[in-house]
Order: sequence, then structure tokens, then C-alpha cells
Amino acid sequence: MQILRTAAALRAALAGETRTAFVPTMGNLHAGHVSLVDLARRHGQPVVASIFVNPLQFGAGEDFDRYPRTLDADCEKLAAAGCDLVFAPDAAEIYPVPQTFTVQPPEALANDLCGAFRPGHFSGVATVVLKLFNLVQPRVAVFGKKDFQQLLVIRELVRQFNLPIDIVAGDTLREADGLAMSSRNAYLGASERIQAAQLQRELATVALAVQAGERDFEALAAAAARRLKMAGWRVDYVAVRDAATLQAPAADSARLVVLGAAWLGSTRLIDNLDFAHPFE
Ligand code: PAJ
Repeated sequence: MQILRTAAALRAALAGETRTAFVPTMGNLHAGHVSLVDLARRHGQPVVASIFVNPLQFGAGEDFDRYPRTLDADCEKLAAAGCDLVFAPDAAEIYPVPQTFTVQPPEALANDLCGAFRPGHFSGVATVVLKLFNLVQPRVAVFGKKDFQQLLVIRELVRQFNLPIDIVAGDTLREADGLAMSSRNAYLGASERIQAAQLQRELATVALAVQAGERDFEALAAAAARRLKMAGWRVDYVAVRDAATLQAPAADSARLVVLGAAWLGSTRLIDNLDFAHPFE
């Protein structure tokens, strides 16, 4: 497995490739990331992963400085997973000049849910992903459903800018108690770690109620948020949406998704469950 640090080396290594499958990451890799590499291997070759903690997508006061950086361990996991090439640039390589030219995702998508609590976040994500796409020039790129809103932002980026890239979505890998794997789980203290699985349980409760025929999505989401708050969480949102658009569910929405973001102490966790709309 090659490990390359510069855009020039990356371009040289990938010159002539037309079937590249790409997995962008910020490193500190866990089994969820590895599952995306497995998925990428089924969709193209060579498989390229990037490791870059993107300053543009972190707000002031967010965890950019303490985000775990574990390049050696990450590369071991990627090599074991059959990744062919790792692109691990530093910030000066990706942003040699200040990034004054940025991608602004559609407001309805970028300023809603996580975007409402993290201004500029999805612009930072879309901007770095567009740059990475231009550097790697993949045929296929793989993103996790764990970051459901991000996945939709990327799908819209590809659609509206006519990028010749297929976006493949990977399912969320979970710990034994249901907690979605995340690099940020490492921030949790021992008792927080036990409590953390509640977020997923509350989302599952909402999903089950909807599947059982309950129609008052807002009341269900509010009840889940209330239960989380009673247990000590600070809740950013719980919401039921159309899984294709992230707008409020419509009668003809084929799939729904219940999404949540909430804080345990200084750790912000997100999760979601998507499911078929139970037509009457
Ligand atoms: P990062 O948080 O490192 O996630 C990289 C990819 O792994 C994303 O597509 C994410 O959805 C996926 N992922 C995270 N946890 C997962 C899990 N438990 N199961 C399956 N997939 C999971 O998302 C980013 O990095 C960045 O925003 C990035 C797209 C790289 C742009 O900087």
C-alpha cells in the first residue's frame, strides 16, 4: 500500500486510472471506516482512502485541535483491508492559499439539522470533498449513512455539478450495545460510554412507532428528545424526515429517516435510522 503526502505524488500514482474507488476520511479509523473500504473494493480499483482532518469544516470552539490523529494505526488498518493507496496530506498541501472560493450547499440542506448547529460545516465538507474528488478523480466514492445529512450534501454536489462519480452509501457499523461507531466515542468517559447507546435506542423507539402506524412525527421526536434530556443529554435535535430529501415526510415519501444529535458532557454524538415508509 502506498502512502502519499502530496497532490503531485497522488496525481502521478493515479495517472491513467479510470476505475478508482475512493473513501474520504479524517482518520482515527474504526471498523465502520474499514467497512467502507470493503465496499469500495467491490466497486472499483485501485481503492484510495484519504486521511485529512479538514479545518474548514470545524467551527470555532469545536474539536479540531483535539480530534484524534493516529496515522500509523490507520495505515495498518487500511493495508489489512486491502486499500491500495492512502492520501494523507497536511493542511498546507490542501490549502496552499486561503480557500476563499468555497462550495455553498443548498440552504435548505446546509442550514437544517446539524447545519443549524454547525454554521459553515457542510460548506467546509463540500469544499474539501470537491477538492479531493478533483485530486483523486474517482469513478466511485463511498460515504457512510452514519453522517446521513453529509451523504445527501455530497449526492447533491455530484448531481448539481455534473461530477462523473457514483456515490455509494455504506450502512452504519455499531458497537455491541448499538452505539454507532465514531471517532468521537473516544471522548466519552466510562459512564458516558454506557449512557451513549441511549441515543440509538430512542431513535429506534421513534422508528418503531412510525412503523406501527403513529403519524404525529413531531410528537414522537419531541418525546424522544424529552427522554434524552431527562437522562442528562443536551439535545440539538431529534427529527423524522424524508430520507431522500431530508424535508418533512410527505405521504408519498418512499423512505423515512429519524435523525438525532445530542451532547453527553462535551461530546456531541449523532445517529440516524432509515426505514421504509409504512404506507397505509
Ligand atoms: P469521518 O468522520 O472520518 O468519516 C469518514 C466516512 O466514514 C464518512 O463517510 C462517514 O459517514 C463514515 N462513517 C463514520 N462512522 C461510521 C460507521 N459507524 N459506520 C459506517 N461508516 C461510518 O465524514 C468525514 O470523515 C468527513 O466529513 C469527510 C467526508 C472525510 C470530509 O472531510
